[in-house]
Amino acid sequence: MSLHDYVVALKPKTSAVVLHGGFATEGESQPLVKKGNSLNELRFPASVPTRLPDGRYEAGTYGTGASAVELLDSADVADGMFTSPLRLRARFTWSQENLDRELANGTSIIVNTRRLQPRAIKAEVGMKGFPSYLDGRALQATNEDAFEELADLFGRERVFSTPKPSNLLKTLLQSVSVLEDQAVLDFFAGSGTLAHAAIKASAIDGVRRPFVIVDLGGFFMTVTVPRVMKVAYAAEWEDGRPAGLPDGDEVAAAPRVMKLVSLESYDDALSSVETTDEHVLNGLLDQAVERSPALLNVERLAHPFEYEIKTLTDDGPRTHAADLVETFNLAYGVHVQRIQIWTSEADARPYRAVIGYKDGTRLLILWRDMTGLDPAVERRFLEGRIEAGAYDEVLINGDSAVPAVRSLDPIFKRLIEEEDR
Ligand SMILES: C[S@@+](CC[C@H](N)C(=O)[O-])C[C@H]1O[C@@H](n2cnc3c(N)ncnc32)[C@H](O)[C@@H]1O
Repeated sequence: MSLHDYVVALKPKTSAVVLHGGFATEGESQPLVKKGNSLNELRFPASVPTRLPDGRYEAGTYGTGASAVELLDSADVADGMFTSPLRLRARFTWSQENLDRELANGTSIIVNTRRLQPRAIKAEVGMKGFPSYLDGRALQATNEDAFEELADLFGRERVFSTPKPSNLLKTLLQSVSVLEDQAVLDFFAGSGTLAHAAIKASAIDGVRRPFVIVDLGGFFMTVTVPRVMKVAYAAEWEDGRPAGLPDGDEVAAAPRVMKLVSLESYDDALSSVETTDEHVLNGLLDQAVERSPALLNVERLAHPFEYEIKTLTDDGPRTHAADLVETFNLAYGVHVQRIQIWTSEADARPYRAVIGYKDGTRLLILWRDMTGLDPAVERRFLEGRIEAGAYDEVLINGDSAVPAVRSLDPIFKRLIEEEDR
């Protein structure tokens, strides 16, 4: 059996994305004759530079097939240039109007070969056309390359079974994302090739590409995350070590902040109780077998920073810490702007304050441990701290004595139940 890997590059709307072949380097020329175009006549002013030997070139057809060029008047070459204007008929990509405008902008034309195909050297360095990857010439990156680069990064073979070569994704990324801060997403990230490619591409063209990569594999913490961290530190690796210090461009392009979000599936969560008592454990296993919905234990929201859930793994139930603040933000759809720690002077209680918005509503979400909480002390602290009129809604875990502050517990419970359904 042979295995194939496919990269699907989808261009959903013609107007939405312009595919291009990366930035042309200065002096790089582009062809003016292309097979798909209709025949058209262009007049080039005298002094077009050429690499052709000096002498007379008779009127007639040069080259063959669809890329043939017809020289309409005989022309002479002396000292590396055509001495008179050139009238050519071919399948040109430009009209006379385009050509004249380009020439006025400083674009120069060169004729390199006996096929008399003129090429343009743009004054402004622009974008090259999108190359065809089907002929295998434009892009050569194989799965073997992908294994090799992972082996270089980790110093051992086969850390992941189906990696893609980062150069392939880098080229595709450069073909679509030319705008600063256009995010790229790979929800089957595997070994993290897309993030690697985004960092690589940015080091080359200076365009920042924030990336989001997702995977459910157990290797995420041992392969994907370490790979991204390694590549963010240095571009070249050998035998698990950086092969050199990053240069200025690489440092400038490297991500400054990366956030790792671990999503617990509440579907699989058995409960938030913390016991290994056999009787309870059996009950939990029965629950799992029946797949009864895991309920958010609202009482435990009084201690949000110690929240734990049990999940059923192949090795039996396991306890995980769950980050309720992050979970709530994600489930409720909060666009987080800032997270601050506020400390009440009266009882030294830390509050985690999430400031953001949701559907145009300005939100403040407060979290604190409620052990020994004095509602009056809290009310004084929060009323002094929450700026009047700054938020449309203020939420808090558990209850609060502050009139303008609402409990988030019922919202959270509803969100988790919806998720279960
Ligand atoms: C062929 S690999 C991707 C390889 C990747 N392009 C690379 O270069 O390393 C497919 C990945 O999809 C992940 N995957 C499969 N189903 C998934 C799901 N429902 N959610 C998230 N990731 C999933 C697998 O764990 C696997 O890592």
